[in-house]
Amino acid sequence: MTDETTIEHLFTEPIRESMGGPSYGDWRSISAPDAVSLSYGFPYPDSLPNDQLIEAAEAVFEAEGDQALQYGGGEYVDRLAADVAARARERGIDCTESEVLLTNGATKAIDTICRAFLSPGDAIFVEAPTFMGALTLFENFGVEVAGFPVDSDGLDVDAVAAALRGRRREGRPIPKLLYTIPTFQNPTGTTMPVERRRRLLELAAEYDFVVLEDDAYGQLRYDGEDVPTMKAIDEEGRVLQVGTFAKTIAPGVRTGWILGPEAVVGELARIDAGGTNTFTRSVVGRYCTDGTLDSTVPELRAAYERRRDRMLEALEASMPPEASWTEPEGGFFVWVELPPGIDADRMLPEAAEEGVTYLPGEFFFPDDAGERCLRLSFSHVSVAEIDRAIEALGRATRSALAARSADD
Ligand SMILES: Cc1ncc(COP(=O)(O)O)c(C=O)c1O
Repeated sequence: MTDETTIEHLFTEPIRESMGGPSYGDWRSISAPDAVSLSYGFPYPDSLPNDQLIEAAEAVFEAEGDQALQYGGGEYVDRLAADVAARARERGIDCTESEVLLTNGATKAIDTICRAFLSPGDAIFVEAPTFMGALTLFENFGVEVAGFPVDSDGLDVDAVAAALRGRRREGRPIPKLLYTIPTFQNPTGTTMPVERRRRLLELAAEYDFVVLEDDAYGQLRYDGEDVPTMKAIDEEGRVLQVGTFAKTIAPGVRTGWILGPEAVVGELARIDAGGTNTFTRSVVGRYCTDGTLDSTVPELRAAYERRRDRMLEALEASMPPEASWTEPEGGFFVWVELPPGIDADRMLPEAAEEGVTYLPGEFFFPDDAGERCLRLSFSHVSVAEIDRAIEALGRATRSALAARSADD
């Protein structure tokens, strides 16, 4: 008998119930050696700033010596919080560094917020589809995860309003949190217009819940007009915004933040036992304050824009007319709806054989929806690979269509 079978009955009830289910990062296992992977929402390898991070680390040691490696770190630790607040102010958010809690990435930020607000039996509202990392994390809290549709303008706020009315009438739980990725959503790439954002804030005030805004891709706009973040238009202090350097520096720095009212952030800091990796924070602090981030982000935007454009052109050229897809103005993802009767999960082995892998839509829904959909990421591959991959996707889709017609 292994240790695991001896003690697993002592896990919390939510963990026992979700045991054996999907785990954070499962989606990384979808790959085939000879196929181009459009599954990963990772930065492309050449964008990773190895040399600049080495320089930043050297500068931190020069300035701080051993202090850089002590509990609490040195001055760059605090500089980073101040820098995050300054960047937020540039984007129209009225805040100071005391409203910033640095975290080990956006995922840990979401986890800390969930620990502070959710008890088993509570409800959380999410977009359906949504970021699967957040979905697997919500499972750990034993809460009801209720999904609401996403259209070309992001979350369908009218559907949320109708559900809230119904719940109030029936005496069912009103959500404590509503998790949204309003800008360049993962996985659909859609952006919620400001009117919807305002309506959502009105609902949050009327029904007394927190809006958990995930702004992981907010810095990566390629065209179109900026839309104010939920946090920027939040007059009541109901929005907790999470952000990350995973997409603008590197996922491996595991550095993100929560922006919220000072008193709330103070409590979140109190429960965030162990705190964050202060050394990495210092290096990122140096990177952000010596001009490196500002000089690299425009290059990243240009490189991702090229990839996005190429993917949209390739889809137009290769996919059958019954398929449709989103046209994101930023972020990493295109969401494809396959022709009726074609299941993206069942088509995956054939697609891999043709030369492409993707994430089937089902990964992104709290229930078993999304069979006809799939997520393509253009962030991690070259334009030449995008061409090859989308041609392969076109061939796999046409062959699935032919098989469907033969069955009819
Ligand atoms: C919407 C969204 N939030 C959060 C994350 C993860 O951020 P981090 O690596 O900082 O935990 C991702 C990464 O894929 C994401 O797409």
